[in-house]
Amino acid sequence: MPEPRFLTDPYLEWARGEGIPIHEDFGFDLLTVEVRPWARLGAQGAFTHVRGRGDFLNTCVLEMVPGGETLPQRHLFEEVVYVLDGRGSTTVEAPGGARRSFEWGTRSLFALPLNVRYQHFNASGRQPARLVSVTNLPLVLNCFHSSDFVFANSFEFAERLGPAGRFEGEGDFLPTRPGRHMWETNFVPDLGGFELREWKARGAGGSNIMFVLADGTMHAHMSEMPVGTYKKAHRHGADFHIFPVTGHGYTLLWYEGDPEFVRVDWKHGSVYAPPDQMFHQHFNTSPEPARYLAVAFGGLRYPFVEDKRRTFLGMDVSVKEGGRQIEYEDQDPRIHALYEEELRKLGLKPRMDEFLAGARR
Ligand SMILES: [Fe+2]
Repeated sequence: MPEPRFLTDPYLEWARGEGIPIHEDFGFDLLTVEVRPWARLGAQGAFTHVRGRGDFLNTCVLEMVPGGETLPQRHLFEEVVYVLDGRGSTTVEAPGGARRSFEWGTRSLFALPLNVRYQHFNASGRQPARLVSVTNLPLVLNCFHSSDFVFANSFEFAERLGPAGRFEGEGDFLPTRPGRHMWETNFVPDLGGFELREWKARGAGGSNIMFVLADGTMHAHMSEMPVGTYKKAHRHGADFHIFPVTGHGYTLLWYEGDPEFVRVDWKHGSVYAPPDQMFHQHFNTSPEPARYLAVAFGGLRYPFVEDKRRTFLGMDVSVKEGGRQIEYEDQDPRIHALYEEELRKLGLKPRMDEFLAGARR
């Protein structure tokens, strides 16, 4: 009799068979996390599973040696890539065989359209190049539990590529309303310089853009906090992976009723994901605007699950009005006191007066 199989996780079984480290923690410094040779990619890699990754997503780090390249890849799951360090290029083979290449560098963002054949190249002969990918492989593999179906599937999703310019940094700005404006593209050359749009309702002079990447179901957005400011707390379901882009700061996280906060300090290279329904609040402690990228499953165009739909509708609405945000006037007084203390240590001053005064009116 065969061993009865139950409580299996086909994704994790597959990941264990890849022969690279599977790191698990609340969050990571992706620039230093250990990588090992990954035969499938012909490069080095590691899985980096954060506590709040949810049911659908994983992240993995990929490193190419100086002058190195990956083996060509193709797979039936979506992949959003953020460049942690280095410069290089990626070639995508469109349905019909046409090739499109684009050049990326540190802080680039791109998506690999579903099931296209692609290959990464490190353009530097001196420095390694390190990328981090967020993928929905756990969703796909746990659904079909056949790696052949996922990695050796010839179906072509021609409509996912979009116009050629979308691999050259071009895109379409799709205005809706603050916090919901979208930029549709496949490639953003430099997240550090990308123009954001004001979003007052999330707090303190902040700005934001929602990305629609390769017409995928994966979500990405970027937010910025001005110097001396912090956002309002809010909560939502798991899987919003946060990748700081510019500046540095910290995030406080807590479940409703918790006496203490969990604190995560961050800068470019960090990743963590607020776990399911855990309140979180982001604080800029750097002398420059602090930006972060968030990648999740279920975007503004294709929310996929009801919780994402509610998140996009309610993340800037007070919990007192049925939303998911804590307004400044309702926040624990320790939160602002800690921020003042942190900035004092760094020789900076909060620029929160007008926003807190507005809250008190
Ligand atoms: Fe959030």
